[in-house]
Amino acid sequence: QDYARGGFAHYLRKEIADQPQSVAGTLRGRLDHRFATARLDGLNMTPRELRAFRRVKILGCGSAYYAGIGGAQMIESFARLPADAEPASEFRYRDPIIDPETLYVATSQSGETADTLAAVHEIQAKGGRVIGLVNVVGSSIARGAEGGIYLHAGPEVSVASTKAVTSTLVGFALLALLLGRVRDAGPAAGERLIAALEKLPAQIDDILAREDAIAELAGRIAGSQTAFFIGRVRGHMVALEGAQKLKELSYVHAEAYPTPELKHGPLALITPDVPTVAIVPSDHLLDKNRSSLQQVKARGGPLVVVGHEHPGEGLADELLLVPRSEPELDPILLGIPLQLLAYHAALHLGRNVDQPRNLAKSVTVE
Ligand code: G6P
Repeated sequence: QDYARGGFAHYLRKEIADQPQSVAGTLRGRLDHRFATARLDGLNMTPRELRAFRRVKILGCGSAYYAGIGGAQMIESFARLPADAEPASEFRYRDPIIDPETLYVATSQSGETADTLAAVHEIQAKGGRVIGLVNVVGSSIARGAEGGIYLHAGPEVSVASTKAVTSTLVGFALLALLLGRVRDAGPAAGERLIAALEKLPAQIDDILAREDAIAELAGRIAGSQTAFFIGRVRGHMVALEGAQKLKELSYVHAEAYPTPELKHGPLALITPDVPTVAIVPSDHLLDKNRSSLQQVKARGGPLVVVGHEHPGEGLADELLLVPRSEPELDPILLGIPLQLLAYHAALHLGRNVDQPRNLAKSVTVE
């Protein structure tokens, strides 16, 4: 057991620390510099078949669903192919219309989640084409899909998903790269993404080295009744997953919102006792985000900013900085400090980090 935890107190902490290697595992052998594309032989689809898809629909549950939202955005922005994500559990029960020109992607760490597997069956029964984005080799979803991308992130034992979420986002980046290159993205655009993907493992190491500051902040978050997590567009998925991690590990209530939606309701709850964790990358939305931060500050709400630089005087009480990547890949790095934040908040409160109450690693019942 101790050996399996690699000397760490918890599997969760070990799996957070694994990420430079698990991301490298997802990338290994898949970056093709010669053609500035991704090699994804497991898809079993020709470039011609891939070019024929008109949409991408991603299905998953829990953290896999949140990673799917990030993946859909990568595919839309890099490959310029309409893409969205939906909880597999909702999809399967709404008698979905299955479109032969849509590429369906079922994403699951375990490959055994009942709702996601049922979505695969629903798609296939109606003549749709579905691939898997799965970590566990030979699992039911991996076997049931016609092809797929294995995460190769290594075993994930802790109930709360960390390295699998990160590798799922990396897997979607590879899929976006390939779909983009068989469509309209030129080789320079492909190289830009490849270079950024190759930098990720070292950049994750940089973030993990800042653990002490995050642990200190987590002590304060642990003392709150509730917290908001906000992010715009790419940042929204990071906020959803960050709030989920805090809830499931520490049992501190948290709610994620798209940043501009804050003013349509939740702003009423912002007081000096309610911290807001804002995802603020230095992208084209930085100025929009600054004015949202001002709205929170004006109500006396404590602000934790996760981003690439200080957003400006008075707009952050705490700053969790991550290295810059390419915009499409920003969610990958922005999520990592939030894993550590949730972990340390849970430690602070004496929670059972690897086995949160009421939860299971893989939900094989409906
Ligand atoms: C459970 C776990 C979550 C996980 C979800 C989907 O609810 O507690 O951490 O995100 O299942 O699991 P999967 O194996 O399909 O990714």
